[in-house]
Amino acid sequence: MTVDGTISLVSYTESAYAGPAAGAAFDRIAHDYDRRFTDSLIGRTQRDVVWKVLTRTFQKSDKVLELNCGTGEDAIYLAGNGISVVGLDASRQMIARAKQRLQQKSPRIPPVFRELPTERIGELRAEKQFDGVFSNFSGLNCIADLAAVACSVARLVRPDGRLVLCFSTRFCLIEILYYLVLGRWRTALRRCKGHTDVTIDGVSFMVYYPTLRKIRQSFAPDFRLYSCTGIGVAVPPSYLEAWARQHPRLFRLLRRLEERLAALPILRSTGDHVLLCFEKVS
Ligand SMILES: C[S@@+](CC[C@H](N)C(=O)[O-])C[C@H]1O[C@@H](n2cnc3c(N)ncnc32)[C@H](O)[C@@H]1O
Repeated sequence: MTVDGTISLVSYTESAYAGPAAGAAFDRIAHDYDRRFTDSLIGRTQRDVVWKVLTRTFQKSDKVLELNCGTGEDAIYLAGNGISVVGLDASRQMIARAKQRLQQKSPRIPPVFRELPTERIGELRAEKQFDGVFSNFSGLNCIADLAAVACSVARLVRPDGRLVLCFSTRFCLIEILYYLVLGRWRTALRRCKGHTDVTIDGVSFMVYYPTLRKIRQSFAPDFRLYSCTGIGVAVPPSYLEAWARQHPRLFRLLRRLEERLAALPILRSTGDHVLLCFEKVS
């Protein structure tokens, strides 16, 4: 099957594989995802940091493969900057929503959205290699074998190509302090053991919290890490949206603080997410 009729980049073979549980879980919340996260104050603040890095990394006419693209917010943004995007996600409903939003925005080079779990990108056959691969907000935290994905990614990306990957961290200082104050120490430390079972609307799946060292090792030797930015170091995780709305002045202060703290060694790894940039070295 040809995934991309317009820019004719990629094809893969359809199969009866049911897809990961995370895809089924996100199906349940796809209709409400943008209200709950994309359009929230905290979600917007976190995404703005990613967009700054994206515009520095990719240029007009680049071709980018986006993994776990969700409802397509970033793909549509990149398309508005003249970048061709193929966006993949395991959730049929998230992809349906991305296609729906595309009709409303109609960018000049419309992204191509398709349902495909990241575990299956090894099946993609690209006519031309991508200039880069992008993954935002923890889709790669749902992957058990990151090294296998990195291997497939290496095949799909051109020499000197870039990766921009946003992971949930293993150690989120604000989360730990917040839940410890509430006396919920199990929740406070849920990321620290490296994986945890998450349930969304009755569907459970495993989320992994690899260390920076483990991520770097998984993408070596094909990719070299050249930049690391903290996201949500001063600004709290998105489940504290109600608090952020009740305290607009304090939130603005935290946003300003975030700009200073996000680049500081050690501290930048203690946020909600970390944004990693790799270049292909082979
Ligand atoms: C927190 S959302 C992020 C969505 C989007 N990248 C964004 O920035 O809003 C995580 C996304 O990862 C997708 N996902 C989870 N596991 C996946 C997998 N194994 N393969 C592909 N997508 C996956 C989910 O369906 C969901 O859309």
